[in-house]
Amino acid sequence: MASNQSFAQNIVESGQRAAARSNTSAGTETRAGTFRIWRGMGASGQLEDYSTSVSEGMVVLDAIHQIQAEGATDLAVRWNCKAGKCGSCSAEINGMPRLLCMTRLSELDLEKPVTVEPMRAFPPVKDLVTDVSSNFRAKKRIRKFTPRPPDAPDGTWRMAQSDADRVQEFRKCIECFLCQDVCHVLRDHQLHEQFVGPRLLVHAAQLEMHPLDILDRTDELKESHGIGYCNITKCCTKVCPEHITITDNAIIPLKERVVDNHYDPIAKLVRLMRGSKSTDTGQGEAR
Ligand code: SF4
Ligand code: SF4
Ligand code: FES
Repeated sequence: MASNQSFAQNIVESGQRAAARSNTSAGTETRAGTFRIWRGMGASGQLEDYSTSVSEGMVVLDAIHQIQAEGATDLAVRWNCKAGKCGSCSAEINGMPRLLCMTRLSELDLEKPVTVEPMRAFPPVKDLVTDVSSNFRAKKRIRKFTPRPPDAPDGTWRMAQSDADRVQEFRKCIECFLCQDVCHVLRDHQLHEQFVGPRLLVHAAQLEMHPLDILDRTDELKESHGIGYCNITKCCTKVCPEHITITDNAIIPLKERVVDNHYDPIAKLVRLMRGSKSTDTGQGEAR
């Protein structure tokens, strides 16, 4: 009996030591944090405070999940990968468009409540979930990839490596729509029907600059896609979690193509004589 007691005592003490380690040792220290989270259905709702324990290594999505587990079981949040790759968990943390799963609590001032709100540019559905379907409708309005016929009898194409490299950056997009959220044209003016927004301009650039694509989308970019609404504030580039240089590498070259094709008669003549989509330095040409 005595040995059983001492065994039990050892288990309890070792458990206490482990608990103490998990509370105080470097890397796992816990403390309380307050999260001020938007709760509501549709447009009506309010911010509510939740207190939960936080420890090193946690991201905001961990805290949200913990708050759900501790009682707020009906708190709606959209997420899938928890690895910054699916683009689902976009929200506004302390007023900044960010991914919940990639924002470490160690980057935030936990002395103050951390505010977590849904993206403001899109209609709210419930709590942190918004209706981002306008982005998919806008994507349908952009004409699809249309390659030239194959260059060789075996059905393959030849292209310059530099042309292929140019569009790789745009392929990193995870469609988180944080750039759409921060863009004042969509966020403040709600011009979703008139302006496709930075994400879809990245998509258009990926197609327009593709070395095999033969379509010229500059008419639509100017008219229905509303590229003229962009006044190059670069806010979209600053929030992109994939670090795509949205403004400099996608939007400005597209604007240059629109100007070349619609306002510069000499550039237009050169383009027609060369049979190319653009007069820029050998990039994005169709054969
Ligand atoms: S640079 Fe253009 S697309 Fe990007 S946030 Fe500013 S206005 Fe919007
Ligand atoms: S361009 Fe960047 S910010 Fe915009 S949707 Fe793609 S990954 Fe997100
Ligand atoms: S859960 Fe996939 S990007 Fe955050």
